[in-house]
Amino acid sequence: MEDVWKVYRGEGFEVEALRGVSFQVYEGEFCAVMGPSGSGKSTLLNLIGALDTPTRGRIIVDGVDLTQLSEGEKDEFRNRRMGFVFQFFNLLNELTVLENVMLPALIRGVGFEEARAEALNLLRAVGLEGKAGHLAARLSGGEMQRVSIARALINRPALVLADEPTGNLDSQTSAEIIKLMGELNKRNRQTFILVTHDPTIAQAATKVIKILDGRVVGVEVKKHG
Ligand SMILES: Nc1ncnc2c1ncn2[C@@H]1O[C@H](COP(=O)(O)OP(=O)(O)O)[C@@H](O)[C@H]1O
Ligand SMILES: [Mg+2]
Repeated sequence: MEDVWKVYRGEGFEVEALRGVSFQVYEGEFCAVMGPSGSGKSTLLNLIGALDTPTRGRIIVDGVDLTQLSEGEKDEFRNRRMGFVFQFFNLLNELTVLENVMLPALIRGVGFEEARAEALNLLRAVGLEGKAGHLAARLSGGEMQRVSIARALINRPALVLADEPTGNLDSQTSAEIIKLMGELNKRNRQTFILVTHDPTIAQAATKVIKILDGRVVGVEVKKHG
């Protein structure tokens, strides 16, 4: 990100949510973004995910300048190159676990059997192959988050973005989810950027970016064995 600003404007208000944010995250990093509520973390993640556009500045993901893409190109870029994990899981409750995970692959145009096989592989990786046929609505919070991680990974994204992925989970389940994401990050060399309040995520991270009032106030780079 290069000197990224985001100003929300409406009737009689103007919020400078990001004020000149610059940082780099390298391939394969497990990066945590930390900061108090309202500091601009979700805004930042939405911009990196091309879900919103900056008021000023450049955002380059995997060599592509997001500000130069049309809406259609952004949709395709999101579907193919990025995976999203949200605090409230955002699963389709009326679909099965397997169908939820397959969906982004089907949207990409992968054949049904191939998508099914890949989804089952990922469900095995997150320890949920036994629940493939269950309705998503019937799962526990931790299971739902594991499904949403499998869903985020099915198109083999270069970058996985997670907004408070453990914000709605108890501490033991959070620890399992963090461990799982860390293992997937190492195994597949996929880059993770996680917005979090959770100090255990920050501990597991290779880089911690601290933001306050829309500015980067610290970048901590850690070495891991
Ligand atoms: N769509 C929006 N319209 C107006 N203001 C917004 C919008 N989204 C976020 N904000 C404001 O921008 C600031 C940063 O919000 P956000 O990025 O959600 O912070 P965080 O995720 O760190 O809690 C806050 O002051 C918030 O109220
Ligand atoms: Mg937020």
